[in-house]
Amino acid sequence: MARIPVVGGNWKMNTARSEAQDLLRDVRARLDGIAGVEVIVFPPAPWIADAADMLCSSGLRVGVQNVYWEPKGAFTGEISPVMIGATATDVLVGHSERRHVFGETDAETNRKLRAVLDAALRPTLAIGELREEAEGGQTEAVLRRQLLGAFEGFEALPDNLIVAYEPVWAIGTGLAATADDAQERCALVRRILAERFNHSSADACRVQYGGSVNAENAAGYAACPDVDGVLVGGASLNGASFEAICRAFVA
Ligand code: PGA
Repeated sequence: MARIPVVGGNWKMNTARSEAQDLLRDVRARLDGIAGVEVIVFPPAPWIADAADMLCSSGLRVGVQNVYWEPKGAFTGEISPVMIGATATDVLVGHSERRHVFGETDAETNRKLRAVLDAALRPTLAIGELREEAEGGQTEAVLRRQLLGAFEGFEALPDNLIVAYEPVWAIGTGLAATADDAQERCALVRRILAERFNHSSADACRVQYGGSVNAENAAGYAACPDVDGVLVGGASLNGASFEAICRAFVA
């Protein structure tokens, strides 16, 4: 099954507005109209409207890093998926920093995932085990728990959903998983999706690797049959690195 690879650039809570505009301009100049790989940039929420304007009709998509699950109301400081639909197409759900810095649970991830889909946005669902869970041989159990929790009550695997497998110990540490390990874990994610839903939807679902991806190691992941792209943090803040990573996935 041919899956079009997809690369996400998660800027996290970085960039002043002028830096964001410079980076958007640079990313557009480098990747405008790129074929064979889908590209999504996830700038900080205050720069989403700038990103939507500056990447307009480039083929590059704009996403947000987090949303709340309610469409509107008295939820001071939160962002509605419905509002996001005016400027962005994609949303990160369940990123490791949401889970481990802000204490988001699997049940909250499930509510966010539903809200994102209800707003006709495309979710990138991030999952991954902590170092101690990996060392304790619990990786499979953790991935299974996070996936089953996120999909609680779902009848079908949404066809516009991306899963990002990001081992927490690899995020921002420079300790990237080897390509073999990324392949094995992404294949495991696909097996769990096939068990929970069915083979054809699991086969069609894009599964990314994330965690210290850079311009040098991206080609190794691109060569893995079950790694359908990467979710990039630090290296997405540099236009040249991000371009090289995206191009590594063009067949
Ligand atoms: P990193 O972050 O590439 O800086 O390790 C990845 C992520 O958090 O998505």
